[in-house]
Amino acid sequence: MQDILDQLEKKRELARLGGGQKRIDAQHKKGKLTARERIELLLDDGTFEEWDMFVEHRCTDFGMENTKIPGDGVVTGYGMINGRLVFVFSQDFTVFGGALSETHAEKICKVMDQAMKVGAPVIGLNDSGGARIQEGVASLGGYADVFQKNVLASGVIPQISMIMGPCAGGAVYSPAMTDFIFMVKDSSYMFVTGPEVVKTVTHEEVTAEELGGAITHTTKSGVADMAFENDVEALMMLRRLYNYLPLNNKEKAPVRPSNDPADRADLSLDTLVPDNPNKPYDMKELIVKTVDDGDFFELQPDYAKNILIGFARMEGQTVGIVANQPLVLAGCLDIKSSIKAARFVRFCDAFNIPVITFVDVPGFMPGTSQEYGGIIKHGAKLLYAYAECTVPKITVITRKAYGGAYDVMSSKHLRGDVNLAWPNAEIAVMGAKGAVEIIFREDKNDPAKLAAREAEYKARFANPFVAGARGFIDDVILPHETRKRICRSLAMLKNKQLDNPWRKHGNIPL
Ligand code: COA
Repeated sequence: MQDILDQLEKKRELARLGGGQKRIDAQHKKGKLTARERIELLLDDGTFEEWDMFVEHRCTDFGMENTKIPGDGVVTGYGMINGRLVFVFSQDFTVFGGALSETHAEKICKVMDQAMKVGAPVIGLNDSGGARIQEGVASLGGYADVFQKNVLASGVIPQISMIMGPCAGGAVYSPAMTDFIFMVKDSSYMFVTGPEVVKTVTHEEVTAEELGGAITHTTKSGVADMAFENDVEALMMLRRLYNYLPLNNKEKAPVRPSNDPADRADLSLDTLVPDNPNKPYDMKELIVKTVDDGDFFELQPDYAKNILIGFARMEGQTVGIVANQPLVLAGCLDIKSSIKAARFVRFCDAFNIPVITFVDVPGFMPGTSQEYGGIIKHGAKLLYAYAECTVPKITVITRKAYGGAYDVMSSKHLRGDVNLAWPNAEIAVMGAKGAVEIIFREDKNDPAKLAAREAEYKARFANPFVAGARGFIDDVILPHETRKRICRSLAMLKNKQLDNPWRKHGNIPL
């Protein structure tokens, strides 16, 4: 018996040491934590239950039969984040560069299967040199097995990827299929083909950081949701995000009690929107002053800044916020912002999170680059997402809601549950100036007449009452009572039931 126990301890010791002290030191020298240190920080103290610590690869080529390290480059298991179950896999760069072998993939698939069975999220901490080169197609098969599970788990359990080292080639497509991707600045990168191949094929000279670093993916490509300074900050923020999410698609997100009164009035909101309709203001101020304790967890803050998305709470309940940002491109909808918001709305819908939409939108962005880029198709994504969404939807129009963009932004017509407008809202086909220039073209050389027509159009349409008269908005509210009215609406919608017709799946414009 003692012999077996000694053997067990020895094996555990070996597994914990991964690729050895030298490689652990090298990992630390790069400013990175090891796979196990990361899990320790991510999970509540002492809650990690490790699986498959003794798994070894089965490769016999290139001398690999003599190089076996228990665990095979990935630490897997489950534990708790603030007392709530989570499955996790953490790739160990000190073992064969965290490269994915057949058995490494099997370990990941095993925790994903179990997470699906019990209905709990999966967090992947990625730090890997890609497919285990010595294994060839067996390793590629392993990737595809993980991809398949990612797709089947999509919309069933939340899946989160934290990129904490290299993630290249086929390896990028597992994170790409998860709900959120976060990256660590300077130590992580993601690309389909690395700088060397890029140079050979396109003759472009680019560093790994420029090609696929955290800044690139959170500002240029929109592939990643947030960039963090280091491993510790990244894992702490991941714990924070986790608190907003339900465990699976059948549950609701946890309620965190707050002392922030539901009827708290914020009088400063009454002067938030400038009198001049062309003057911008910061929509984030409205969000922060409306949600519980001013706590807004913004996602993709540096990408497509003309729309804001993120999580917050109202009376302790998680809500998804989508808001036009008049400070950037006057809050117009363009290709990037439509895609950004559409994916977020679909996440909220899949996971029972009510969506609150703040609208100040002058329309879709005009121009050849938008049209050639397919704004029709991409703008339709947001429309589609709102239209198929069955969770509680509350909309507040703060100023402009023009044209097709009015329809798209969670309008009554797309089954908005509660649609409110501030008194100075303008719900119309377009702004008064543009409208008059088209319908009174014959007056174009008579500025006085045009001005009179504009004033007439403004008086007739630049208000919330035409929409109100048709019931397209439910009420005109004072800005300072926004929080109270949203909280009441959410309480009313608590047991909302709405089903879409049965179908295999819809065909969202991609
Ligand atoms: N398969 C097997 N072993 C791999 C590997 C892979 N895909 N990627 C890295 N390793 C091993 C290295 O051989 C090295 O082993 P050692 O410690 O015994 O010397 C160890 O992992 C660390 O790699 P190293 O290259 O020293 O680290 P680095 O930080 O300098 O570079 C990478 C990291 C990922 C850029 C580099 O390892 C790389 O280019 N790997 C191959 C990427 C690739 O083409 N993958 C296959 C296609 S998906």
